[in-house]
Order: sequence, then structure tokens, then C-alpha cells
Amino acid sequence: MPLEKDEPWYKHAIIYQAHVRTFYDSNGDGIGDFPGLDEKLDYLVDLGINTIWLMPFFPSPLRDDGYDIADYYSVHSSYGTLEDFKKFLVSAHERRIRVIIEMVLNHTSDQHPWFQESRSSQENPRRDWYVWSSTDARYHEARIIFLDTEMSNWAWDPVSKSYYWHRFFSHQPDLNYDNPAVREEIWNVMKFWLEMGVDGFRLDAVPYLVEREGTNCENLPETHAILKELRRKLDEQFPGKMLLAEANQWPADLRPYFADGDEFHMAFHFPLMPRMFMGVKLEDRKPITEILQQTPEIPPSCQWCLFLRNHDELTLEMLTDIERDYMNDSYAQDKAMRLNLGIRRRLATLLDNDRRRIELMNGMLMSLPGTPSIYYGDEIGMGDNINLGDRNGVRTPMQWSGGWNGGFSAADPEKLYAPLIQDPVYGFPAVNVLSQKRTQHSLLNWMGRLIAVRKTTHAFGSGSIEFLYPGNQRILAYVRQLGDEKILVVNNLSNAAQAVELDLRRYKGNILIEMFGKNIFPRVGELPYLLTLGPYQFYWFRLRRI
Ligand code: NOJ
Ligand code: CA
Repeated sequence: MPLEKDEPWYKHAIIYQAHVRTFYDSNGDGIGDFPGLDEKLDYLVDLGINTIWLMPFFPSPLRDDGYDIADYYSVHSSYGTLEDFKKFLVSAHERRIRVIIEMVLNHTSDQHPWFQESRSSQENPRRDWYVWSSTDARYHEARIIFLDTEMSNWAWDPVSKSYYWHRFFSHQPDLNYDNPAVREEIWNVMKFWLEMGVDGFRLDAVPYLVEREGTNCENLPETHAILKELRRKLDEQFPGKMLLAEANQWPADLRPYFADGDEFHMAFHFPLMPRMFMGVKLEDRKPITEILQQTPEIPPSCQWCLFLRNHDELTLEMLTDIERDYMNDSYAQDKAMRLNLGIRRRLATLLDNDRRRIELMNGMLMSLPGTPSIYYGDEIGMGDNINLGDRNGVRTPMQWSGGWNGGFSAADPEKLYAPLIQDPVYGFPAVNVLSQKRTQHSLLNWMGRLIAVRKTTHAFGSGSIEFLYPGNQRILAYVRQLGDEKILVVNNLSNAAQAVELDLRRYKGNILIEMFGKNIFPRVGELPYLLTLGPYQFYWFRLRRI
């Protein structure tokens, strides 16, 4: 479907989140690499995605899987060379796949030469590139994010005998954004990758750029001013490129990241995600309708990015204490599944490998307002390994086949960067791309159909939403509309068959065309429109006046 003239591309993106290290190892050293990712691009074309978001691939000691960058201008040697990245980028673009890369701008690794210089002496010209203090008492209202590992946002540096500020791990010192030289250098980094041809950035941890005494040091006006300045430069020098915000905040605090359409193009909808899991567990639409009602309007050029899972724990930060307890009791009975304020599990394991629930959740992901992001491996229903530390259990090698190392690598299994999932239910002999390609009704092939049907209309990417509130609370129903195009979505959030009467009087005279099978359902009349749905079933209907 051709894009309308003024429609920005990211409104119709289907994002696939991939990590180069986990995807495909081309040279048999046990670690995924760019030539490997390049080889697998046709798999992503077949799936129907049109945008890849890559996790950090820069030189790094990998103490936070690359979110601890030691050099912004190069590629980690395990993943290949800059040339390999460029080749991959060309291959992706040849296939009309856009590439979004990660920009970790709040902090660096403590191994970054900037930090090494900064700590070397109080007089060093780079001293002021990081946030130093003689006491650890400043900014005490700022919360600790990595609760399970960090005791303070300050760490003592024995070299320069002072404290430095860090919002994440203590090996990730925060850059000092009050220093214009830092701001300029970060823009130089972005320019470097934009000139190479990347299509956009996910900007990591944006709420924390600036610190001010007497505040919680999140979402400060000074931080927004810096982000706007980056956007201004982007628009001036690289029109058409996109910025996606990682700001794990409540809707009211998220809204300013779009500003007047002159800050971020997109932002993840963090509060919605856990509520989709809550809605399905409670068999009640309320958590979902409520949070979307509380979600403010955003400027027309802006877009939400929706997701079910990503590389981190399923964050429960944007929930009340009661809601969080409910999520933990429902989805993380085993305490080993919990990490910080979240749950470190994959989509299929969270949903107990229930194909109907996996389909329903993906159906909502693709039909609620925003651009969907799919986490690698979730399209085949991969499992996780809670015996691996931190968030590594959801970052295991992609399962390509039932053969040697699941088709991921020719290395000896002991050499792999992480063991493959091997258990009888989710292990690679049972769950892999090759076998799912062979069965028409596999999850993989179903995901391909879902994406293809989503792409038949622009209403999902840029249409309005209007909720219907049928008496049956287990049904989540809404109409997405763009111009004359109207799509009715009906989701059964419950484990049992349901009947629902929808008030469709304003669409009187329309017929309903079920979008997967293209079959015609009865015309809408005066009476409530009766539908029945099986457990966790959903429908997408096109409303047409014929
Ligand atoms: C958010 C990223 O998603 C997470 O993986 C990382 O650990 C932190 N930011 C710190 O960079
Ligand atoms: Ca390799």
C-alpha cells in the first residue's frame, strides 16, 4: 500500500527489535554478527516487518549488554567491522527495511576514554564531562532504578577521590549535559551514524539527562530543552529521520516528550503494556480502556510505539502498588522471575504457551493506536531461561532449526555467548523457524498473516480510536477510523466463549467484512449487533457501505 504524501513512514512501520549478538553467527565464534544478521534479512522480509531496531552494537565491556558504550564511533569486534555494518545497512535498505539504532546518551561505560580522562585528575579538561561531587548527599530525591544491584546513585571513585553520578549501574557514569561540549559531541555521534544512512534512533533513558537539586531529576525542563535542540538539528540536517523515546513514565509525564511536534516523533507507551497483560488475566477491559482514556492527545505528526515485550524485564514501574502485586502474583509466582520492578520473562512463557492468548495479545498490539514493535523470537514463541542472570534469560540465541545449536552457530555449544533454550516445551528442537515454516498454521506463519492484514489499511497506523462499551466487560471493542476507512475490532479477553451486543447504530447500513477471511457478516441494522466469540478470540472487521 503506497504511503500517502504527508504520512510519515514511522506511522506505518512494523518494528522488529533485534540484537546482533543473538541473531545469527556467521563465522562460528559463538556470537551473532552483522554478516549473520545480513544473511537473515530475507527471513524478516518474509515476516513482513519493514523496520529493524538494533540494540547497541558498539565497543563495550558488555557489562550491560552494550548499554555501556566505550566508543560511539565503531562496532564491537565480536559483531564485525564498521564495513560489515555498512553492508548490512545497504542490504536492509535494498529490501526496503529501515534501520533504527540505539543511542545511549545519558551515560557511558566507565571504560570510555572520556571517563578515564575525566577521573584522571580534577584538572583534566574532560573533568566536567561527568557529574562529580565531593559528597554523596546531592540529588537525594532521585530514585534508584536498578534496585536489585545499586544502593545509591553515587559511586566513589578512588582515582580522583570523589563521587560520580550514575542512574543505572555504577559502571555507567552519567554524562554531564550542563556541559555544552558534551551536547556537541553527542550530536557529532548522531551525525556520524545519520551520514552513514541510519533511519532513526531509539534514545535510551532520556528522562535522566539533567540533574537539579530539589527535584527527582526526571523529565526536567532543561532535559526537554536539550532534546528539542537535538531534534532541531535533526530536522535541519537530516529531514525524514526519526527519534523514538525510551521514557518509562506516566502518560502525563510522557506527553511533553512530543512537545509541539518538535521533540520526539515517537515514544514507547510504557503504561499501556502491563495493562494489556492485566486485562487478559482479569478478563476485564477496564485496565486497557482506562489507561488509553488517560493518554493525552499527541500532535498529528507524532506516534506511540506499542510493544508487548522487549529485551528488559516487563516493567511494572507504571503501576500502582496493588496493580504491581497483582501482576507479580499472576505472572511471576516464582521469585526468580522478578527483577527490579519487573518480570524477566518472554511473551510465550508469560502466557503459558497458550496460542490463543499469544494471538490475542498480538492482535491488540497490531490494532491499538500506534506502531507495533515485535521482540525477536516472540514471533515463534521462544521461551526464556531464568537461570541466567539479570535480563540475559530473554536474550538467548535465536532458534532457527532443530539442528546443531538451533541453527544459530557452528561453534561448539560451550563457546556460545549464552546457552540455547533446551527445555522440552520451548527448547530449539520444539520451537524453531525451520519447522514453523513448514506448517501453515504455525505461530510464525500466523504472525506473517497478521502483519500482512495490518498492512492492508492505514487506519491502524494513523486512524482515530473510539471505544464501544458493551455490557459484557470481557469484551474490548473499538473502531479505528481514517477518512472513510472504518475498522471494527472486537477482542474477547476471557478464557470462555462470550456473546456481545454492540451498539453500532451509527454505522447502520454497513456490512462487516472479516479482514482475515474476507467473509461478509450481516449488515448493521437498528438492533444491537450480536457477535459470539470463542475463548480469547478476536475479530477485525472492515465496515463498508455497499
Ligand atoms: C534502558 C535499556 O533498555 C536497558 O537495557 C539498559 O540497561 C538501561 N536503559 C541503561 O542503559
Ligand atoms: Ca560471530
